[in-house]
Amino acid sequence: MTKKTQQGDSTRAVHSGEREGRQRVADSITTPIVQTSTYWFHDTQEVIDYQEGRQQSFEYARYGNPTVRTVEQKICALEGAEDCLLSASGMSSVTTLLLALVPAGGHIVTTTDCYKRTREFIVRVLPRMGVEATILDPADLDGLERVLKEKSASLFFSESPTNPYLRVIDIPRVAGLCRDHGAICVIDSTFVTPINQKVLELGADLSLHSGTKYLAGHNDVLAGAVVGNGELVGKVRYLQGILGGVMDPHAAYLLLRGIKTLSVRVERQNATALALARYLEQHRAVEQVYYPGLPSHPDHAVARSQMRGFGGVVSFDIRGDLQATAKFIDALRIPYIAPSLGGVEALVMQPAVMSYWDHSPEERAQLGIRDNLVRYAVGLEDVEDLIADVEQALERV
Ligand SMILES: Cc1ncc(COP(=O)(O)O)c(C=O)c1O
Repeated sequence: MTKKTQQGDSTRAVHSGEREGRQRVADSITTPIVQTSTYWFHDTQEVIDYQEGRQQSFEYARYGNPTVRTVEQKICALEGAEDCLLSASGMSSVTTLLLALVPAGGHIVTTTDCYKRTREFIVRVLPRMGVEATILDPADLDGLERVLKEKSASLFFSESPTNPYLRVIDIPRVAGLCRDHGAICVIDSTFVTPINQKVLELGADLSLHSGTKYLAGHNDVLAGAVVGNGELVGKVRYLQGILGGVMDPHAAYLLLRGIKTLSVRVERQNATALALARYLEQHRAVEQVYYPGLPSHPDHAVARSQMRGFGGVVSFDIRGDLQATAKFIDALRIPYIAPSLGGVEALVMQPAVMSYWDHSPEERAQLGIRDNLVRYAVGLEDVEDLIADVEQALERV
């Protein structure tokens, strides 16, 4: 048997960042919450030593915090990254990253299926800085090559899997094209987590997380993370020090505690979601199921080649209209009707009603948001209970 040199994900999730590199406080096993807004110096010489790099300090809490840093180091270990920057929310990570890495008047490439607020930032806010975007189908590699060449696009940004149709980006090929044309490749890994996919090993420059979801895992805190190449993370860190969307140390502690159980939660959610997707696919009241673990999914082959598990979200179309779908949702007894995903409680929502109610039916159709679409995020409930609950709700459709 060959000797294992690297620790596994579960060991890293529990231990990384915590024993080495952090100060011991009263021999506490848990990382303390360092609740401070600023850091003090013993004398002026210490200030000067800090300014000239001989003394370490965070100086002020907008530039760093020991609790937050411990979590950043843990996420680095899980992603195999040089650096990680935590933010107050996933959207703070998205907006700070794009503002830090895209030049005024630049061009970026993104994909059709995308979290609504990220799309809004790209199509409504970035144009104020003269930044244009080309929006491509996740599988359109020829289109990507064309935009990288003809528009000198400097950054590719996509979720993988995407929200809500769970499209999967062929990361090695996309990252290769980006590298050939000098563009930065960023993957929003919120739905996949480093347990199911090592985005950086596959070639991306940066991985981004709404840590609010699987990383924290308990539907109780907002968090964002940018992970990967040290120089790029450094640029985002510098801008965050100006924009100010930093993570609070209490939130960091909740995130830290959540990550310790990440691998067991994700493995369980993978198994539950796959079973639910298979169940739904054979039900006559379900028109279509979108889950990358099913052979019927358009990106199944890509997903199998790069993912270790397919995640805890299943999207599907009910055979019926908006009202029939709402009736199904209302008949469910276990999941909460709520946005978000990745926590221990199952959550369900109808995107047309929850996220896109402010859009006209025509606008929704243009974005591909179907009236009968359901997004179901499994929690840690027993799979038999979730399926029995879905079964009784489908009977009402
Ligand atoms: C894929 C994806 N990225 C980013 C975000 C934004 O994260 P947050 O809600 O933590 O700001 C979300 C939120 O749902 C998301 O689904």
